Amino acid sequence: TAVAHPNAETDDTIANPTRRRFLKLGAGALSALALLEIGGAGLSYLQPRNTASSFGSVITAGLVDEFPLGSVTEFVDGRFYLIRTQDGGFLALYRRCPHLGCTVNWQDSNAQFICPCHASSFDLYGNFNNTPVPRPLDTFPIAIEDQKIRIDTSQLIHREQFSPEQLTYA
Ligand code: FES
Repeated sequence: TAVAHPNAETDDTIANPTRRRFLKLGAGALSALALLEIGGAGLSYLQPRNTASSFGSVITAGLVDEFPLGSVTEFVDGRFYLIRTQDGGFLALYRRCPHLGCTVNWQDSNAQFICPCHASSFDLYGNFNNTPVPRPLDTFPIAIEDQKIRIDTSQLIHREQFSPEQLTYA
């Protein structure tokens, strides 16, 4: 039987509210698959920013124009990655691996999320590339109003695979 890994993230884990990492998706870092999927690559330079809220609430991530096309931004206190695709769509991916709950990490060198516990990997959209995960990374709903991006981290969305209607546009 499966046993939760010691690195597994639980829903009641207290995230460090002061630490967040911003990751960029560069043309040289894209795999051929990711390149195809996002329709071309461009360099992205992301600026650090703070959020007033943390996981379990509605988080204001920032303004649309603050997230370059083809970028990945991690919000550690919100426990999600905010993806902006090359065509401008947004996707908020829960960082908790759907296998046994470890925190997945973005790997810039080959443009994928890696689970440190059992080596599962996920593409830019959270689709899994290998076993043992049962489904893609879960997402959170995004609302964009007056160019402000809000992610509701109280509403977890399970899905079977990525589809374009999961992207939110300004
Ligand atoms: Fe097992 Fe992520 S927890 S693959």
